[in-house]
Amino acid sequence: MPYTTRTQHLKPEGAYQVLARANQLEAAGNEIIHLEIGQPDYATFENISRAGIEAIHAGHTRYTPPAGMTSLRIAIAEDSGHRRGIHVDPDEVVVGPGGKPQLFFPTLALVEPGDEVIYPDPGFPTYEAMIRVAGGVPVAVPLLEKNNFSFDLEAFDRLTNERTRLIIINSPSNPTGGVIPPGDLEHIAAQAERFDSWIMSDEIYTRIAYDGLRVSSIASLPGMKERTIIVDGFSKTYSMTGWRLGFGIMPRELAARVDLLLTHSIGSTAHFTQYAGLEAVTGPQDMVEVMVAEFQRRRDIIVAGLNDIPGISCQKPQGAFYAFPNITGTGTKSGDLANLILEKAGVALLPGSSFGKYGEGYLRLSYANSVENIEKALEKIEAVLTR
Ligand SMILES: Cc1ncc(COP(=O)(O)O)c(C=O)c1O
Repeated sequence: MPYTTRTQHLKPEGAYQVLARANQLEAAGNEIIHLEIGQPDYATFENISRAGIEAIHAGHTRYTPPAGMTSLRIAIAEDSGHRRGIHVDPDEVVVGPGGKPQLFFPTLALVEPGDEVIYPDPGFPTYEAMIRVAGGVPVAVPLLEKNNFSFDLEAFDRLTNERTRLIIINSPSNPTGGVIPPGDLEHIAAQAERFDSWIMSDEIYTRIAYDGLRVSSIASLPGMKERTIIVDGFSKTYSMTGWRLGFGIMPRELAARVDLLLTHSIGSTAHFTQYAGLEAVTGPQDMVEVMVAEFQRRRDIIVAGLNDIPGISCQKPQGAFYAFPNITGTGTKSGDLANLILEKAGVALLPGSSFGKYGEGYLRLSYANSVENIEKALEKIEAVLTR
């Protein structure tokens, strides 16, 4: 039976595919180090888990308004607005089960079949998937190593035009760890104004930035908040991937549309999860800082170790928790190299090519793992490559 064109293009995310193969190898008795998964290795912080459990015991196990509990929307509006230096009203906040619905639903609300959508390549695979489901035309803009993986602005200017309905940016970036500098944000904002395009700014890693860097939001530039959807969430910042909680900040008319899409699809986000989220936003933030400091230490170890391996060179990522080394010096394609490293070294990681064609020539390694495992993985990779 044929399936609809809007779903025919869908394919699995690379991370889940590699995980499945890694699990098979583990079941057959092999030791595997997992550097493929995009989630912090920390347990959800104690105060947050406790708030979730207490919420269940208190009977907070019911439906909530589709766009989230009012108390949580108020808390997010205040916290996220303050962090970005913008004023956010609670009815501009939409809560959902993860950041992903805040990518998908605004895209469905804004993109007509045939509209062009700019997105980063290499980039999070959901971007291309959701553009195509909406019937839009995906237009990939390369992220270049020579620009610290910010947008290639020349290509960006060439590819934006009056058909550009939406521009997706992601800073800090998955998979590169790159951060878009303020000057580039201004350039992107000017193009969006010129062609009256919307901007979707995926800021899910905004609090995971290193060396004291504060990541700027494009929404804080003059006139930009009215045409921007900020996508953020709890998965990465508070190590809550499995709780499923995220939010979008967008103009209230668009928020009302997304509210309707949530009403008729997911209904509402888990009630007790929202209580856990309320504690995450309003409670102590010291564990976020502890985790980010530890990620910075691991980043330095993995980057130095990768640069010591012949054929590999790796820039220092400024944010997120991924190293994105250039492997062209090995003379092997990224898919083949990732397979070889999994099968022969027992290290699960992702080929850059699973993030788009401009990801060829790179690998993605998550360093949200112990220093012990990172060091062991580096030794094993080096042994395979120099054998
Ligand atoms: C760039 C980016 N955006 C959004 C998400 C979605 O996160 P979640 O739906 O778990 O909140 C992820 C998760 O890996 C991501 O890497």
